[in-house]
Amino acid sequence: MQVRLSKGRNLSYNSSSFQGILIRYGVPASQQVRLEVSFDYEGHLAPVQEVRSMTLKSENRLMHGIAVAILTEDREQSVVLNTRIESTHMTRTVLSHLGFPIGPSDAVLRQILDQRAEVVLVDIDPKNPSRAIRAIEMIHSAAGDVTIFAVGELTQPTNIVSAMRAGAREFLDRASNREAMIEAFTRFTASLSRAQRSAGKARVFTFLNAKGGVGATTTAVNTAVALEQAHGRVVLVDFAPIGHASLQLNLRPQFTVVDALQNLHRMDVSLLEGLMTHYRSGLHLLAGAQQPQNAVPTATELARLFDLLVSQYNFVVVDCSGRVDATMQMICDLSNAVLMVAQTDVVSLWSAARVQAFLQEGAGRERLRIVLNRYKKIPGFTDEDVEKATNCKVLWKIPNNYQVIGPAIDKGSPVALQDGHEVARSYQGLAAELAAATSAADGALSLVYQHDKSDTAKRPGRLIVSPMRAGQ
Ligand SMILES: Nc1ncnc2c1ncn2[C@@H]1O[C@H](COP(=O)(O)OP(=O)(O)OP(=O)(O)O)[C@@H](O)[C@H]1O
Ligand SMILES: [Mg+2]
Repeated sequence: MQVRLSKGRNLSYNSSSFQGILIRYGVPASQQVRLEVSFDYEGHLAPVQEVRSMTLKSENRLMHGIAVAILTEDREQSVVLNTRIESTHMTRTVLSHLGFPIGPSDAVLRQILDQRAEVVLVDIDPKNPSRAIRAIEMIHSAAGDVTIFAVGELTQPTNIVSAMRAGAREFLDRASNREAMIEAFTRFTASLSRAQRSAGKARVFTFLNAKGGVGATTTAVNTAVALEQAHGRVVLVDFAPIGHASLQLNLRPQFTVVDALQNLHRMDVSLLEGLMTHYRSGLHLLAGAQQPQNAVPTATELARLFDLLVSQYNFVVVDCSGRVDATMQMICDLSNAVLMVAQTDVVSLWSAARVQAFLQEGAGRERLRIVLNRYKKIPGFTDEDVEKATNCKVLWKIPNNYQVIGPAIDKGSPVALQDGHEVARSYQGLAAELAAATSAADGALSLVYQHDKSDTAKRPGRLIVSPMRAGQ
């Protein structure tokens, strides 16, 4: 796509995200911008290489109505749907496509994500419904947070059941009038505001590592996807010195926390949304810095960013990995729980105690818990020993399974999304524990680990055994 800014700056841009263009070129959110856009309309209704002029105001993205994509195989039906939707005055059509995706890598799925469609209408041909049902499945798995409206004939109940099972939220009659459309879109906006209200209470979980490479990013990424699968809307924020979370999700972010911090003076919900990279499960990622940064955000700036994040999601998962600086201290103080990932070796536990001490007196240190990664029971070495060595309570233990985790990281497909592995169940259990913990008035969570019976059995007079020696 070619985009020309009216001030004469020409640029080629691979994405159709206008938000992105506005941010990258430092255009103030309130400024009106005239964009000349030449679309490549392969498979679209408009003539190929049509050139359009449009005016858009970046801050008004949410006010322009619900972003709708229409997918149908029938040219006439496309015109009918476009007209009917337009007549509701509640929407803006961001994509109108003739045909359905034929596979998970089909370009139209990418376009739905790029155009940030909120609702996708999939028209079901009564004579040949299977392709549309398959399309619903593909859209649902490629874009988990997009709402799908199936449009078909109410006289075919099997199609209704199949469409809903495939992931459609609504089934609209092909002959439905403007009022029925308005009702469906009203239900959609009501569900959004319900989600936003409950999202106003997001919990913040920050992951640190006791020392490099013990598994903070792996634990943060898997806990985030497990939370998103079962407990609500999640944003994963990568504050590690160099961001690795996008690699573990096989994503190529356009924007990072650095862009967020640099644009805080004009940050609003739609700008923040424009900085997110979307993972197929519905998880949002505010990606990490691609290079080490010198800039230190102030406490006010971080609080402003987190205020906005907690207002938009149910859970904010932060990966700080090996970051040990004022930013990490401030983020820990803003968190409901701080999870330090460690392994049961001398260096890791020694280091964990130093990081614990670095978190000065305050919320961050009180909310600190240990997550033992690559856990293997060592005879004679108990959780109490870990707690004495690190000055903090053990919350969770994740088993060692390189055979499963290694390839999952290489493929960019977190193991927590794969059923049948003990290690996946462990991440799901940690997510459930964090989601279900009761919260005190000050936001602290009641996170207590149910110690193994054998670990809690008191052995009077027992000496603390070095974990390394115990392992021998
Ligand atoms: N439970 C586990 N079982 C087996 N291997 C694991 C486990 N968790 C993590 N790993 C391995 O450890 C490696 C390092 O993990 P990860 O990058 O998450 O650590 P980190 O603490 O974030 O490191 P960094 O200091 O680079 O930020 C991973 O690439 C993975 O191969
Ligand atoms: Mg890391």
